[in-house]
Amino acid sequence: MVRAQRACRAFAPDDVDDDIVLEVLRAATFAPSAENRQPWEFVVVRDPDARQVIGDVTARAWAGGGRAYSESRLAPELLADVDAGATGGIAAAPVLVVVCGDHQRGNANAMASSIFPAVQNLMLAAGALGLGSALTTMPTAMRAELAALLGLPEHVVPMAVIPLGRPAKPLGPPRRDPVEQHVHHDRYGKTRQ
Ligand SMILES: Cc1cc2nc3c(=O)[nH]c(=O)nc-3n(C[C@H](O)[C@H](O)[C@H](O)COP(=O)(O)O)c2cc1C
Repeated sequence: MVRAQRACRAFAPDDVDDDIVLEVLRAATFAPSAENRQPWEFVVVRDPDARQVIGDVTARAWAGGGRAYSESRLAPELLADVDAGATGGIAAAPVLVVVCGDHQRGNANAMASSIFPAVQNLMLAAGALGLGSALTTMPTAMRAELAALLGLPEHVVPMAVIPLGRPAKPLGPPRRDPVEQHVHHDRYGKTRQ
């Protein structure tokens, strides 16, 4: 499953059962976290209007700088995929999980290091259950708007938005460098022989 994980940015409209979502979120909570503080909070957004607002927030973050920044950095195929996701593909998922960090429970320095292992568990569990998902952080650039929409208290900070749903099309294999290219033996830059 680890080697089949892909970012899914186009979803079929079929709903996802609450039980499945809970199973996926339960898997997320088995991740490690600094001091075992488990600082995650998950807001499961199904309401179509709320998903539309998150979609608008994402599209504005993309149009307002994300696209310009990415244009020269992403391969054309990936740019097109991210563009389609940011302009409606992600928001069309039947479920959007907004993953937040609670700063009353977790230390700010370790917040990302505690939240993103849980996000990875969440996505691996989703894949194992036949769901597509994607790690997106673009909408979190609009923190105040997400907080207002979801009623987040000041100490609960949105860190990722993960769409969940049945993929609209096959995702294909991930593209990765050969691992040997990034392995060092005893010292940086030293190969085995
Ligand atoms: C920290 C982080 C932030 C990301 N943010 C976004 C995002 O805002 N929008 C998006 O479409 N994909 C986002 N991605 C997904 C990456 O683009 C994707 O994982 C990468 O291109 C590799 O593609 P693959 O996962 O399909 O193999 C993010 C990934 C990470 C790790």
